[in-house]
Order: sequence, then structure tokens, then C-alpha cells
Amino acid sequence: MDKLVIEGGRRLKGVVNISGAKNSALPIMAASLLTDDTCVINNVPLLKDVDTMIKILRALETKVEKKKGTLIISGKCKKVKAPYDLVSTMRASVCVLGPLLAKKKYAEVSFPGGCVIGPRPIDLHLKGLERLGSEIKIKSGYILARTRKLKGAKIYLGGHFGSSVLATANTMMAATLAEGTTIIENAACEPETVDLANFLISMGAKIEGHSTPTMRIKGVKKLHGTRHAIVPDRVETGTYMLASAITGGELFLKNAKLAHLFAVVDKLRECGVKITEREDGVAVKRNPKQAVKPTTITTLPYPGFPTDMQAQMMSLLCLADGISVITEKIYPERFIHISELSRMGAHILLEGPNAIIKGVKNLNGADVMASDLRASAALVLAGLVAKDKTEVHRIYHLDRGYENLDKKLSRVGARIWREQE
Ligand code: EPU
Repeated sequence: MDKLVIEGGRRLKGVVNISGAKNSALPIMAASLLTDDTCVINNVPLLKDVDTMIKILRALETKVEKKKGTLIISGKCKKVKAPYDLVSTMRASVCVLGPLLAKKKYAEVSFPGGCVIGPRPIDLHLKGLERLGSEIKIKSGYILARTRKLKGAKIYLGGHFGSSVLATANTMMAATLAEGTTIIENAACEPETVDLANFLISMGAKIEGHSTPTMRIKGVKKLHGTRHAIVPDRVETGTYMLASAITGGELFLKNAKLAHLFAVVDKLRECGVKITEREDGVAVKRNPKQAVKPTTITTLPYPGFPTDMQAQMMSLLCLADGISVITEKIYPERFIHISELSRMGAHILLEGPNAIIKGVKNLNGADVMASDLRASAALVLAGLVAKDKTEVHRIYHLDRGYENLDKKLSRVGARIWREQE
């Protein structure tokens, strides 16, 4: 396995190209199972998770061609079993459940895996599909879902922590081919859910209210092929905004859109970061002579502050001039980065889902490791500004979710390279 070596202390300056959103691309790839026609998907990020989804689609005997950032998915899927060895590596694999059920009336999908960020139940996925008229059993670690005919229903999809992005995706995808109308209450409103809905609409689905908590889906008999470009990745954008902020740098994030990042932009501005939107992207700048201001953050479903930006924001706040508080309301245990940031000299106290961060003057390079994608990104950010050398081990998770992170950072002046462990 590779590690990343970072020599911190360089101000980043230049242009970073923002890739397509991982969390849009994965469910959209799964949604292509809903048609026998060809779907062409552009602006797909080159990531391990995308490769895993390609393998799952191929295991279902669907044809997938990959040409750089374009995927051509075609042909009837013949198999209905998504196997453990693939599904266990990635949470988003569970997205094939809804489309398989709708198209083939039967699906066998292994319980999903993914990052270690606390419990990740799938009760809302199962509730949505059951309410549409399917019968679900769990056997030998697999979800077995069967239906004679899916029927539209009124479904409340709120859980203990609010709406669910992928449960909304699974229910919405299955409902596109159900008989009658489905109403999802407390539907996720994340930009990736909206991108998926737009993809389905371009295939002939009848969906309304897809950026609101009440989504209405009128089932159709058949969906057809389409061509779609994935939206820019808001979490990748936010991560590079922080790379600029933490190094007191000046980055232009090409293709980035602020529309999906208001909560993050608001907090960064409060910390003293200058952010300007232009036609082709976003400029992010911080004066290194001025201290980072502390702030308070609570993660919430969209349009609140995203949990996927919590760890990266914490790295910046470790260096703020005062005390900051982060409350994690989506995954109360998603704090794996705290122990690693502490190894680098951060002062953080964890009290339940609240992290209290007392800013320090400097972070120091260290050997660190995280088994969560965004936590790993936070450690890279800390490494960019730390004194001396930081080694981020087990970067498997980074490769799952950030396209060419090390190359993109080197191009704007970071001293970062990959070595074999
Ligand atoms: N939840 C339930 N029951 C369910 C599903 C979820 O209680 O059946 C809970 C979760 O435990 C959590 C909350 O609901 O407390 C929200 O989870 P959600 O279902 O929205 O998460 P997800 O759909 O599995 C997606 C992203 C995650 C991101 C979350 C929250 C993808 C592939 N993954 O996961 O992204 O953190 O939404 O925004 O879209 C990442 O990219 O690093 C990542 C983890």
C-alpha cells in the first residue's frame, strides 16, 4: 500500500481542476441498470470507488466501457447478485438494490461496507423498498429483496439523524418504475440527490420536488438511455478551499460552483478566508499574515454544513486564534481524525458529539493514518502546513474519493509525493 509524504510550510498558489462528484457518479451509475438502452455519463471522476461500481455492474453482466472521464453503460443486466467482496468495500454499492428490484423484481445485495465513521444502518433503504411493495429478507449477510409488482406509496424517510441520501436514492430509483405515484417525505435534498433525479428525468422518469423534502415520483413503464454530465464535486471543492485557507494561499478552483457550498463558504468567510465566484470557477485566498478566526460548526443535512467537510474544517480550526466548537449531528462518532491531529500537536477535547478545539500556533509533522476518506484528507491538509515531514499511511481511502490528490496539490506548489510502504 502507498503512503503520502508531505513537507509542510508552502503557500499554495495556482489553478486546481475540480472533478465530477463521486457521490453523484456512484448512484447514477447504479441508476443506469433501470434501462436496457445505453447511458453515456460524462465528467466521471477517476477514482477507486468508481472502479468498484464498474466491477459491480460487470458482475451483474452489464457492459461498461470507460474512456477517461466518460462511461458508456449498455446492455441488459443479466445477473441480480452484487457480491460481498465488492459491496463490502463501498457503502454506495447498496444503490444497486433499488434499480435491480425495479427492473428484475429480485435482488441479492451484500450488506455494504465503507469508511469507519460509526454505525451506518440501512433500515431506511429497506423501509422505502418495503413500502413500495417488496418483501425483504436478510440471509448470510445478504439483503434478498423480491417483488411481484412495485406500487407507488406515501413514504416518510426520516431517521434518527434526519434524511438519508442513499435511502432516498434507492427509493426514488425503484419508484420510477412502480405503478402509480410515490411521495417521499423527508427526502434528502443534497445536490447529489438532485443530480440523480435529473439523470432519471433525462431517462424519462417523472419526478417533481427533487430539491425539496417532499419528492413526487409518478411511475412509468420504461426508462430509456441518456447522456448526462456529473455535477462538480462540492466536497473536493471544499477540501481545496481549505488547502488554500490553511496554507495562507491563493487557489483558483476551476469548474467549482459556490451554489452547493453556502454553509462552508459562510464559515470560511467567518474565519477570514476570501472567496469570490467567477464564471468558470471560484477563487479562494487567505492572507497568511492574519490569524484564522475561530468559529462554531454543526453538521446537518443539506443545506447545512456537510459532515463530509467536518474533518477538513477541523484541521484549519486547529490553527485558529481561539476556541472553536464542532458538533457532529450526522455521524456522532465521525472523529477518527482527532487522535491523529493530536499527534501533530493539535489541542482537541471530545465531549460526546462535540469537539472543542483550542487553536495552536503550529502543527508538527508526524506519522498519521486514518480509515476514513475525509479524515485522511484532513490529515493531508494538516501536513501541508505542519513543520517538517508528515507521512500519511494507508492512503487507500484517499484514492477512493479524491482524483489525483497528490498531483493536484503538487501542481500548485505543495511538496507532496507518494511512496510505497
Ligand atoms: N441512516 C439511518 N438509517 C439508514 C440510512 C442512514 O439511520 O437506513 C442514518 C446514518 O447513520 C446517518 C444519517 O442517517 O446518521 C445520514 O446518513 P445517509 O444515509 O444520508 O448517508 P449515506 O447516504 O450512506 C452519503 C454519502 C456520505 C455522506 C452522507 C451524509 C454517498 C456515497 N455517501 O452516505 O459520504 O457522509 O451521505 O451526507 O453518497 C463520503 O463521501 O466521504 C461519505 C461518507
